[in-house]
Amino acid sequence: MNFQLMKNTVHSSIHGELFVFENLKNVPFAIKRVYCIKNVPSSSLRGEHAHTKLEQLVICLSGSCKFLLDDGKSKKVIELNSPHTSLFIGKNLWREMYDFSPDCILMVLASDFYDPEEYIRDYQTFLKLCSE
Ligand code: TYD
Repeated sequence: MNFQLMKNTVHSSIHGELFVFENLKNVPFAIKRVYCIKNVPSSSLRGEHAHTKLEQLVICLSGSCKFLLDDGKSKKVIELNSPHTSLFIGKNLWREMYDFSPDCILMVLASDFYDPEEYIRDYQTFLKLCSE
């Protein structure tokens, strides 16, 4: 499945922790966009889409949430609960995010600008594309 858990670069001292993300170094693509998700009700389901081109690196800066990843053949649940690990999500993976803790803050680094045309938002269409 086209995902990977990656150990983040962190500089820790008695004064705190500093996390670094650099294009094509510890981020496996050139970053064109950064967005954050927070204040998600614990009952909410987000995502429910796949991307045909986009690659993303998700960092859970605070709190926790779960990702269901699906390549049309199998499904995998990943819990993100630490800024020390990030989740790389490649293209053509259906994702659903749920079980957000009240303090959850996700930061997402993306390989391209926002393009609604590049989303697959219908699960049956996604399954059809996977079987081609
Ligand atoms: P969406 O991608 O559906 O969020 P999620 O996958 O977390 O459920 O985006 C939610 C809304 O925000 C939708 O109206 C599109 C808008 N949006 C942008 O305008 N730019 C962006 O970069 C992103 C990620 C979303």
